[in-house]
Amino acid sequence: MSLTSAFLLVILSLSLSAAREFLTGDTGHHVGSNQNSQTATKSGGILLQDIYALQKLRRFNTERIPERVVHGRGAGAHGEFRSFGNFSDLTAAEFLSKRGIETEVFVRFSTVIHGKHSPETVRDPRGFAVKFKTATEGNYDLVGNNLPVFFIRDHLKFPDMVHSLKPDPVTNLQDPNRYFDFFSALGGMATHMLTYLYSDLGIPRGYRFMDGHSVNAYKMVNAKKQVKYVKFRWLSKQGVQNLTRAEAAQVQGADFSHATRDLYDAIRRGDFPTWELGVQVMDPSQLDDFDFNPLDASKDWPARQFPFTALGELKLNRVPDNFHLASEQSAFSPGNFLPGKIEPSEDRLLQGRLVSYHESQMHRHGSNTFQYLPVNRAKSAVRNYNQDGVMVMEHAWKGSVNYEPSNDADAYVEDKRSLYSTREICGKNEQGPIEKTLNFRQAGELYRAFSEQQRANLVGNLAVELRTLRSQKILHTMCAHLYKADEEYGRRVAEAAGCTLAKVREIASGLKE
Ligand code: HEM
Ligand SMILES: *[C@@H]1O[C@H](CO)[C@@H](O)[C@H](O)[C@H]1NC(C)=O
Ligand SMILES: *[C@@H]1O[C@H](CO)[C@@H](O)[C@H](O)[C@H]1NC(C)=O
Repeated sequence: MSLTSAFLLVILSLSLSAAREFLTGDTGHHVGSNQNSQTATKSGGILLQDIYALQKLRRFNTERIPERVVHGRGAGAHGEFRSFGNFSDLTAAEFLSKRGIETEVFVRFSTVIHGKHSPETVRDPRGFAVKFKTATEGNYDLVGNNLPVFFIRDHLKFPDMVHSLKPDPVTNLQDPNRYFDFFSALGGMATHMLTYLYSDLGIPRGYRFMDGHSVNAYKMVNAKKQVKYVKFRWLSKQGVQNLTRAEAAQVQGADFSHATRDLYDAIRRGDFPTWELGVQVMDPSQLDDFDFNPLDASKDWPARQFPFTALGELKLNRVPDNFHLASEQSAFSPGNFLPGKIEPSEDRLLQGRLVSYHESQMHRHGSNTFQYLPVNRAKSAVRNYNQDGVMVMEHAWKGSVNYEPSNDADAYVEDKRSLYSTREICGKNEQGPIEKTLNFRQAGELYRAFSEQQRANLVGNLAVELRTLRSQKILHTMCAHLYKADEEYGRRVAEAAGCTLAKVREIASGLKE
C-alpha cells in the first residue's frame, strides 16, 4: 500500500466514524465493546462491574409487558377523521361542529380471544377501536366491534363468557364443549350474536373489509343539554368482504397474519382505507316503546325505524413507526368520553366497561402515566392538579398552587359546558335481570335476511363445531335455541349436527322468548 492510499484510508475511516454515532448505555456512557463482556483474565468468569452488559440483559429480560386480557392480537394505524357538517343540534362536541374539521385519530383493529401472535383467520369478533385526539376538547375513544351486537347484557357475565371462550385451563386448547356449555346454560341471550359470529361475517377478509359498531348505546348531548340515545356504525368504503371456512383454512396455511399485512400494505401503497361514521338516534321518550330494551347490547335497533345519519369520514394514512410504542401501548377506553357532549348510556354492559379498560391498562403499564405516552397523549392541553406518583415526567401546573379554588390569576377554572346531562330517576336499588329479554326474535330476523348461500354457510359453520360436542344435552339445547329463533334455521343445524329433531322441538317449546 502506498503512503497516499494509506493516508486516504485513514481519512475515509475517520469520516465514516464521524458520520455514525457512538453506541451508549441507557445513561449515555459510551460503549467500548458490544461484542465481549468483561472477564477476570482469559479463563475467568464475568465481572459484576460490567454494568453495561448487565443492563443490556436486564432490558431484554423485561421486554414483555402483559398483553391485553382480551383483544391481545391486533394492529394499529394513524389517520384522520373529517366532519361532514355541523351536528350541534345533536352534540356539543366541537370536532363535529363544522364541515371539514379534521381530527387526528389512532385506530386499532384486533381479534378477541387468543394471544398477541395468534392467527388472524379465526372465527371471532374483530375489535374496532378509534381514539379521536380532538384539537380542543381532549381524547374521545369509540371502542367498538365489527359485529353489531354482543353475547351478554350484563358486565358481570363478561369474565365467565371470556373464560369459556379462552383455552381450557387444563389443556390450553380452545374447546367448543366449554363455550357451548356456557352459552347453552345461559338460556339463549347469545343466540343473536352467535348467528352473526357463525355467519360469514365471523371471519372478515381483512380489517379493511369490515364495518364497525359501537354495540352499546351512548348519549349525545347538545349545548341545551338535550339528550338523544345513539348507536354508532363505521361503514367500510372498501365493502364488507369475508372468508368462508374453507377460504380461511387456505389463507391461514399461507399467512396467519393476513389482516395486518393487508392493512399495512394498503396504507404503504397509498390506498388509504376509509370508513363513514354514522349514528342512529333515539329519543329518550322512546326507550319503553319496544318489546326489547334499547339499552341491551344483545339487540340491534331496526335500521328501517332508526336510519343512520352520516357524521364524517375516517381515513387511515400512516403505519406506526414501531409496533410496541403505538399498537401495543395504545390504551382505549369507553370511559374516555366527552362529558356534556358524548356520554355513556345506562347500558349495563357498557357501565362495566367504563372502568374495566383503565384497570387493565394500569396492570399492563404499571402506572397511570400510560396516558402520557405519545400514542395516547391528548392533543389538547391536560390541566389539573393531579400530581406525583410513579414515572411522572411533568405537572400541568407550575409554582405553589396545586389546588382549586384559588385567587391566583393562573388557576384553572371549570367549563360549565362540560357538565353532565341530567336524568330523572325514581325507583329502588335492585339486582334483577333486564325484563324484556327477547332472546331469539332478532336472531331469527337475521337468519331470514341472509341469502340461501349465507344460510348454508352459517348452518355449516355451526354444525362443524356442534358435531364435536360430547354432551347430548348441550348439543340439543344449542339446536333448540336456533330452532326457537327460526324453525328452518334450527332444523337445518339439527340435521347437520346430528340432533334428534323431536328432542330439539321439546326443549325449544320450554324456552322463554
Ligand atoms: C362488560 C363487557 C366488557 C368488558 C368487561 C371488557 C373488557 C375489556 C378489557 C379489560 C380490555 C383490555 C383493555 C386494555 O388492556 O387495553 C378490552 C379490550 C377491548 N374491548 Fe372490551 N370488554 C367488554 C365488552 C366489549 C364490547 C361489547 C366491545 C365492543 C363494542 C369491546 C371491544 C373491545 C375492544 C375493541 C378492545 C381492544 C381495544 C384495543 O385495541 O386496545 N369490548 N375489553
Ligand atoms: C353550528 O350551528 C349552530 C346552530 O345553527 C351555530 O350556532 C354554530 O355557530 C354553528 N357552528 C359552527 C362552528 O359553524
Ligand atoms: C361474504 O362476502 C361475500 C363477498 O366476498 C358476499 O357475497 C357474502 O354475502 C358475504 N357474507 C355475508 C354474511 O355478508
